[in-house]
Amino acid sequence: MANEEVDSGRRRFLTATTSVVGAVGVGFAAVPFIKSWSPSARARFAGAPVTQDISALTEGQQLVLGWRGQPIFIAKRSKAMLDVLPQMDALVADPKSDASEQPDYAKNENRSIKPDILVLIGVCTHLGCAPELHAEIKPEPFDPNWKGGYFCPCHKSRYDISGRVFKAQPAPLNLPVPPYYFADDNTVVVGVDHKGAA
Ligand code: FES
Repeated sequence: MANEEVDSGRRRFLTATTSVVGAVGVGFAAVPFIKSWSPSARARFAGAPVTQDISALTEGQQLVLGWRGQPIFIAKRSKAMLDVLPQMDALVADPKSDASEQPDYAKNENRSIKPDILVLIGVCTHLGCAPELHAEIKPEPFDPNWKGGYFCPCHKSRYDISGRVFKAQPAPLNLPVPPYYFADDNTVVVGVDHKGAA
């Protein structure tokens, strides 16, 4: 079930985060610790691509995985969520993502390769908290006119459902999009694009 997928995605990310924190926490002992990793674990720490099956992802939900010690959000959007995006252009600070970070193939209104699947680095561009997905188009305590998107609980930055930051928020830029591609309809590879560029 989709909730379990989401939970297991979170668990995977928490596990990855714990590994990274552990490596940092041991200070000078970190080098021998890292040397003891298997080649594949070392590659993951350095940023090897991560492959994710998204077949269980349903509209309005997201998976969270780890890549380069950062959370990666993979969210599925409904047609209603996508239809709202043109209205958001006037409300967001960088509607065409000119100042924001994403590969060229994600520099479009949906900020994605496939319109419905959104892939983001889940790190707030203010001070690095993890924004929360509030996908539903409904009034929220932090915004009575909420049209779906991300809310950062640390200092209340709001982003639309493409990760574009609203005007006049603590966060200055849209949520970054990592390099990625679809290996097939239900498989996303994060960390590299279809040409092999990281
Ligand atoms: S870290 Fe997200 S608003 Fe400050």
